[in-house]
Amino acid sequence: MSTNKPKAPLIAGLDIGSTKVAFVIGTVNMDGLVEIVGVGKAPNTGIRQGVVVNIEATTESIRKAKEEAELMAGYQVNDVWVGVSGTHIKSFDSKGMVAIKNKEVHGSDIDRVIEAAKAVAVPADRQVLHVLPREYKVDNQDGITDPVGMSGVRLEAAVHIVTGGQTALNNTLKCVEKAGLRVNGLVLDTLASSLAVLSEDEKNLGVCVVDMGGGTCNLLYFANGSVAHSSIIPVGGYHFSHDVAVGLRTPQVAAEILKKKYGSALASIVNENESIEVEGVGGRNSRQIPRKDLADVLEARAEEVLNLISHDLQMSGLMPFLGSGVVLTGGASQLEGLSEMGEFIFEIPVRKGLPAKVGGLIDVIKQADYATAVGLLLYGLNENREHLISMASGEVHLADSLDGLTRKIKDFLGNMF
Ligand SMILES: Nc1ncnc2c1ncn2[C@@H]1O[C@H](COP(=O)(O)OP(=O)(O)OP(=O)(O)O)[C@@H](O)[C@H]1O
Ligand SMILES: [Mg+2]
Repeated sequence: MSTNKPKAPLIAGLDIGSTKVAFVIGTVNMDGLVEIVGVGKAPNTGIRQGVVVNIEATTESIRKAKEEAELMAGYQVNDVWVGVSGTHIKSFDSKGMVAIKNKEVHGSDIDRVIEAAKAVAVPADRQVLHVLPREYKVDNQDGITDPVGMSGVRLEAAVHIVTGGQTALNNTLKCVEKAGLRVNGLVLDTLASSLAVLSEDEKNLGVCVVDMGGGTCNLLYFANGSVAHSSIIPVGGYHFSHDVAVGLRTPQVAAEILKKKYGSALASIVNENESIEVEGVGGRNSRQIPRKDLADVLEARAEEVLNLISHDLQMSGLMPFLGSGVVLTGGASQLEGLSEMGEFIFEIPVRKGLPAKVGGLIDVIKQADYATAVGLLLYGLNENREHLISMASGEVHLADSLDGLTRKIKDFLGNMF
């Protein structure tokens, strides 16, 4: 592996999904924009519904995806932002209150009130992943998004707390570290995806992003610009393929290919006369069937999954706040006709969300199953924006020259002894 020194700071995201591991490398430029320079993907059989069930297989997939991305980028990466998901993720609302020091809100007051909201009893077997501020209240004025500089004596914060099961998170960390990487932070995968596929306007108007993955659909609701709720439905793309395998009596691998190549969630839009070849099971001959039969199977599952999402939307109590409707992303959202059917069932606008807001190799990452990995880079950028921009505007060159200086001193000392 080449150990070229990048001219700009590097940032990397690792999405360990139930079906694939995606590794994306970007550089940050002086304007604070991420340019994608390397992308790698490897199938993964070591994860079930977001939980590691095989450490070796997952570690190997991470290694493969990392090497592929590094080869494309020409740079080696040592640390990474990691997406986590799965049925072990739980979230809830909490509140905190503190007295404002010096009668004017400063950043330190915000830190304290967030700490106070976080100080709720979290069981020892769970780890807090995110404390997402929903709104602040200064004395009796509520609905404040940024209270810095405001006068008052009492600051309150309403937050949404996301936690993960300690064992599941530890096993994820173990796989990443075994693959030779340092973890910058663990990030809820849907939160990452939302950074890559949603616009600020959509978040302000209210929107629900649905990441349709292999084993689960993960939902994240935004109201008034901040996260209001999250939930998980344990059905995903795998179930579509499984139905095709059973319904058309074909091996699972063939079913997966048929679904991606010829699948549609709307049987009515499929040409009646079109036929497709279906591989037989256990050595039986292949046969021709109408493409519409495939769509019939997929339509039934699509209807079921979208009805489950619709139920979640209703139960969230947030429907009146979803002015921008629903955005579908993740690999399974790519099924033809899904968003049209979604719009019909949810009775609110639905669009497909592809990763955006980055430069570089956009043609490679402009697929719904890269939403999380790209979003992880944007999350990492937000966490370290000032530092990364200042590195991009010159300090890296300083580091290079310091490296050079160290080498010269070593050479000098080496020559002396
Ligand atoms: N063109 C397509 N049409 C239909 N389904 C697709 C298409 N492309 C991919 N999929 C499905 O998307 C699913 C994988 O999506 P994705 O890569 O987002 O999942 P993941 O991140 O690995 O899983 P998870 O998020 O559940 O852990 C698979 O079930 C796959 O069959
Ligand atoms: Mg995923």
